[in-house]
Amino acid sequence: MAVDGPVPWPCAEHTGVKHDIYRRYLERWFPILLKGSKRYSSVTYAEGFSGPGIYSGGEDGSPVVAIRALSDKVPPTTGVARFVFIDNDERCVNMLWDTLRNAFPERPRSQDAMPVVVREGTCAEDLEGVLDEVRAWGKPIFANLDSWGNVPVPFRLLQRLANNVSSEVMVTLSPQHFVRFVTKKGQDADDVFGGDPHWRTVTNLAPEAKSRHILTCYRQALRSAGFPYLLDFELVPRHGQPLYLVFGTGHPFGVEKMKESLWEVDRAQGVGFRDPRDEQAESLFVFDEPQLGPLTRLLHQKLRDGGPGRVEDLRRFALLETVYRPQHVLRALKPLMDQGAIEVEGGGRLRIASVVSSPSASTR
Ligand SMILES: C[S@@+](CC[C@H](N)C(=O)[O-])C[C@H]1O[C@@H](n2cnc3c(N)ncnc32)[C@H](O)[C@@H]1O
Repeated sequence: MAVDGPVPWPCAEHTGVKHDIYRRYLERWFPILLKGSKRYSSVTYAEGFSGPGIYSGGEDGSPVVAIRALSDKVPPTTGVARFVFIDNDERCVNMLWDTLRNAFPERPRSQDAMPVVVREGTCAEDLEGVLDEVRAWGKPIFANLDSWGNVPVPFRLLQRLANNVSSEVMVTLSPQHFVRFVTKKGQDADDVFGGDPHWRTVTNLAPEAKSRHILTCYRQALRSAGFPYLLDFELVPRHGQPLYLVFGTGHPFGVEKMKESLWEVDRAQGVGFRDPRDEQAESLFVFDEPQLGPLTRLLHQKLRDGGPGRVEDLRRFALLETVYRPQHVLRALKPLMDQGAIEVEGGGRLRIASVVSSPSASTR
């Protein structure tokens, strides 16, 4: 699906939020990998769907965001950062070269310290080969796979990334695309989910359960590709269909850093995030303060289903299984304590060392 209309196109509001998340994450990723205690001599930032690097209002596209994150946070002579940009629309490819020249009239780094490849081609047919060409494998790769949400990304590429050292993926997923075209889609769509046709049972589900089902199937695909830690969240546009960003990494530290980036993003933009697992679909940033209602519901459910739990384990659950951070857990449990829906075993104040249980658990 090349661009259906003029290039460049207007920057939708949720796109600005998405870029803010990329930027904040990459401002952590590049320094950790190039300057940190376990630094690597080189890393690669790769996009399978790069776009033209600019929007019609002049806003930066993701390739520019990524290069700025590197040049703002890492000295020009520290390590090598390769950039690979693939797009299947010739107009985007030509415009991206011009955009990069305009955005960086002086190269932020030498050619050797920052090789840049811009190539017309598809993510499916060309990305892996270009990563071979630039000798990216064997060193960390961050693959930004920001399609229109239809995710034409080979499972084999995901598997290779998952098995590559310190490598991560960020995938844009539009559940509506799959829900709408389920009866028309052939084997290609099953390939998106690692060959598993289970996603097609979406036709039997109630409308409100469909998007979550597609997300769950995609999470399963990333997990079976080899990413043990996943974080997904829903960008909630004021108009139009929601989009999910699904992040896969080999390390809980990656989840922690992505979550820090997510929670830092300006809450005033009014676009908001949601935890896709919350059935009441409450936005996290309706007001200035984070809305902890969805986390409260998830924790209550967990204690009812799983029996008593240590607050420390609930903090780890929040980190690895929800969009929330460990430090949100005590605050999210408080309303349950106040309502008598949970209690501290042995009595006393609720603290990180407490074990909590839901009295209603045994009656279920
Ligand atoms: C959502 S836009 C990318 C936006 C860009 N990542 C950004 O944030 O600025 C998707 C891009 O993917 C390109 N595209 C669509 N299908 C593709 C495919 N199969 N392989 C490579 N590029 C594709 C389109 O031409 C379009 O430029």
